[in-house]
Amino acid sequence: MFKTASFFHSLRFRLITSVVTIEIIMLSLLVWNNISIIQSTHTDRLRDTAASMIQQIANTSGNYMMAVDYATLEGYLSKIINYKELTYIVVVDRDNNAVISLGRVPSVPWPETETHPAQVKDGVYDVATEISVANLPMGRLLMGFSLSLMEDAIRKSRNRGITIAAIEIILTVIVTVLIGLGLTRRLSTLADAAAKVEAGDYSVTVPAETDDEVGKTAIAFNRMVAEVSSRTKQLERAEAKTQNLFTENRMLVHASLVIQEQERKNLARELHDEMGQCLTAIQADAELIRDISGHREHQNENDREIDERVVTSASAIMDVSSRVYDVVHSMMRRLRPTILDNLGLVEALKDEIDAWNNRHPETHCEFQYEGELDELDEHTNIMLYRIVQESLTNIAKHASANLVSITINQHNGQLQLIIKDNGKGVDLQQTNKHKGLGLIGMRERVETIDGSFEIISTPQQGFLISITVPFKKTQTV
Ligand SMILES: Nc1ncnc2c1ncn2[C@@H]1O[C@H](COP(=O)(O)OP(=O)(O)OP(=O)(O)O)[C@@H](O)[C@H]1O
Ligand SMILES: [Mg+2]
Repeated sequence: MFKTASFFHSLRFRLITSVVTIEIIMLSLLVWNNISIIQSTHTDRLRDTAASMIQQIANTSGNYMMAVDYATLEGYLSKIINYKELTYIVVVDRDNNAVISLGRVPSVPWPETETHPAQVKDGVYDVATEISVANLPMGRLLMGFSLSLMEDAIRKSRNRGITIAAIEIILTVIVTVLIGLGLTRRLSTLADAAAKVEAGDYSVTVPAETDDEVGKTAIAFNRMVAEVSSRTKQLERAEAKTQNLFTENRMLVHASLVIQEQERKNLARELHDEMGQCLTAIQADAELIRDISGHREHQNENDREIDERVVTSASAIMDVSSRVYDVVHSMMRRLRPTILDNLGLVEALKDEIDAWNNRHPETHCEFQYEGELDELDEHTNIMLYRIVQESLTNIAKHASANLVSITINQHNGQLQLIIKDNGKGVDLQQTNKHKGLGLIGMRERVETIDGSFEIISTPQQGFLISITVPFKKTQTV
C-alpha cells in the first residue's frame, strides 16, 4: 500500500510517467508522420489523375461540341461520371452557360479556369480547363474529385496508429510496472534495512535474490553492515574502557586533592603549633635577655660593653624571629587559610583579594556575590578558593590588567564563579599548546565534582574564566 504523497515521489511513479510520456511523444510523432505521408501521396496521385483526365475529356468533348452533338457528349460523360472519385462534370459554353451537368454540381460561380490545377472546397478538389478545337474556344470543362477516399485512408491510418499506440502504451505500462515493482521492492528493502542500521539495529541482512546490480548492492550492503557492526562493538568496548578509566581517574584526582588539602592542613597546623610556638618562645627569651642585659648595673666598662652587645643581638634575634614568623604565617595562610575554615568562603576570598590588592596597587580587583555561601561543603569551598588564588596569580603573571572582577551567582541549584580581567588576553589555540599546570588543575578540580569549566579570551580583549558547579551544602571532606 502506498501513501499518496510518497507514491508520487516514488521511483516507480517517476519511471512509469517518464516511459509513458516518451511513448506518447514518439507514437504521436509516428502517427503524424504516417498521416503526412498518406496525405501527400494521395494529393499527388489525385492531382496527376485529375490533370490527365480533364485534358483527355476536354479534347474529346471539343470534338462533340464542334459537331454540336450534345446528346453523344452527355452519353460519353455519363460513363465517366461513374468513376469512383468523380463528384461532378459540368460543360459550359462560351457564354458560361451549363450545357451538361452531371453529378453533385456545385453552385455557381464556377471555378475559374486560372485556378487550375487545384481548388479544394467542401471536401471536393475542383479543376477546370478550356475546351478548344484548333485554337477555337468552345467552352469550358469543370470537374470535381472527391477527397473522401483520401480522408478515409487518413482516418483509417490514424485509427490504426492510435490503436497500436494504445496497445503499446498499455504493454509498456504493464512491463514497466512489473520491472518497477521488482526493482523498487528490492530498493525499498534496501532502504528499510538502511533505516534500521541507522537506528542501531545491525542484525539486518538483505537477500541478494539475483546477480544483477541490486543483488550486488545487497551483498555489499550486508558486508558493510557486518563491518560497521563489528567496528561499532569495538568502539563501544573502547569507549566503555575509556569511560571507566576516566571515572577512575576522576576519583583518583578527587582523592589526591582531598589528601593534598588534608596534608596542607596538617602542615599548616604543625607549622603553627611547632614553628609558631618555638618562634614565640625564641622571641620571648630574646626579649627577656634584652631586658635583663639592658637594665643591669655595671661594675666596669667591659661589662657594660658586653651587655650592650647582648642587647643588640637579642634585638636582632627578635627582629629575625618576627620576620620568620611573618614568613611562616604567610606560608600557613597559603597552605590552609584558617579563615576559610573559621569564617567561610566569602570572608576568605575577601581576605585573599584584599591582600592581593595590597600587593598589586596597579590593578584593582572587585568582588561581588549573591546568595548564602556559608553552608557550602568544604570541598567546594576549597576548590573555589584555590581557583581564585590561581586566577589572581595568573592575572598578576600574564594579564597586565588594571581591572579584575570576581563574581559568584547562584541559580537553579548551580553556583557560578566568573573571574574576568581587562588585560591582554591570549590566543587560546596557543595556550592549549602551552603546558602550564594552573588551568589544567582548575579544570580537574571542577570536573571532580561534575562541574563545567570554560575559558573565553582573545588577544587584547581580556580573559574570562567561568565555572559552574552543583551547589553542595556542608559535608565532611
Ligand atoms: N588572566 C590571563 N591573562 C592572559 N593570559 C593568561 C591569563 N591566565 C592564563 N593565561 C595564559 O594561559 C597560560 C596557561 O596558564 P596556566 O596557569 O595554566 O600556566 P602558567 O601560569 O603559565 O604556569 P603555572 O600556572 O603552571 O605556573 C599562561 O601561560 C598564559 O599564557
Ligand atoms: Mg598559572
